[in-house]
Amino acid sequence: MSRLTARGLTLAYENRVVVEDLDLAVPDGKVTVIVGPNACGKSTTLRALGRLLKPVRGAVLLDGEELAKLPTKAIARSIGLLPQTPVAPEAITVADLVARGRQPHQAWWKQWSEEDERAVTEAMARTDVAALADRSVDELSGGQRQRVWIAMALAQETDLLLLDEPTTYLDIAHQVEVLDLVRRLNRSRGRTVVLVLHDLNQAARYADHLIAMKAGRVVTQGPPAEVVTDAMVRDVFGLPAVVVPDPVTGSPLVVPGAPWEDRDSAPAGAADQIEG
Ligand SMILES: Nc1ncnc2c1ncn2[C@@H]1O[C@H](COP(=O)(O)OP(=O)(O)OP(=O)(O)O)[C@@H](O)[C@H]1O
Ligand SMILES: [Mg+2]
Repeated sequence: MSRLTARGLTLAYENRVVVEDLDLAVPDGKVTVIVGPNACGKSTTLRALGRLLKPVRGAVLLDGEELAKLPTKAIARSIGLLPQTPVAPEAITVADLVARGRQPHQAWWKQWSEEDERAVTEAMARTDVAALADRSVDELSGGQRQRVWIAMALAQETDLLLLDEPTTYLDIAHQVEVLDLVRRLNRSRGRTVVLVLHDLNQAARYADHLIAMKAGRVVTQGPPAEVVTDAMVRDVFGLPAVVVPDPVTGSPLVVPGAPWEDRDSAPAGAADQIEG
């Protein structure tokens, strides 16, 4: 089942088509990961799924209704989107930015509720930013700021969560923490998550459903064990690779296949001869 689907989606900037005739069904209650080379249209697709971008042709459907015809606030109560490069209002504090995630739940007749407070506190605790609450977002490190944005998206408490490269800027421990958090939200609360990730090994570990895109089209999709193969990595990324089982989880682990060689300098062995 899929609450969120795209049919014949064509997306463009000005007159330049970036994504063409894309059909997509986001499986409910699963973690979907989109991978693909730079500029292939991942962010563009994600933004269309979150109604940040209007399709040229085709449509995105939420519960069978065209996204373009639904009220913005109703969409925001169902779909949370963290873009690749979000822009914070100037001099806003961490707590205030995370609180903005509650906007879709606000109304002129409704005060800031205990429910809002709980959602914000919980989101900040889960992303490890509670200690930063009073700091200005402008003066955070890249990784701190990224976690604040994730907190804001979590505070929105939507059934569908779209995160564009949520692990950029994060050190390896925080990357794993964020991906574990996504998994936990999915498993314990049934959240449907779509992630864009560049790390194929993380993608293979955390995805239930993996979509590989190239030049604005879906090349292949399915369970990571079927999608992540040396043939896919060569076809989609143009990289020779060897795929072995991840020693910890058994999921596919991609190892770039050709070792680096210094082809510009003297033939192999020459350096040894000089030094020896
Ligand atoms: N606001 C914009 N205006 C014009 N062209 C854009 C805009 N955003 C993206 N593009 C172009 O659309 C194409 C797809 O971009 P997109 O951001 O979807 O790629 P991506 O797959 O997310 O890449 P990356 O891995 O680098 O984030 C690129 O050629 C890009 O230059
Ligand atoms: Mg992108």
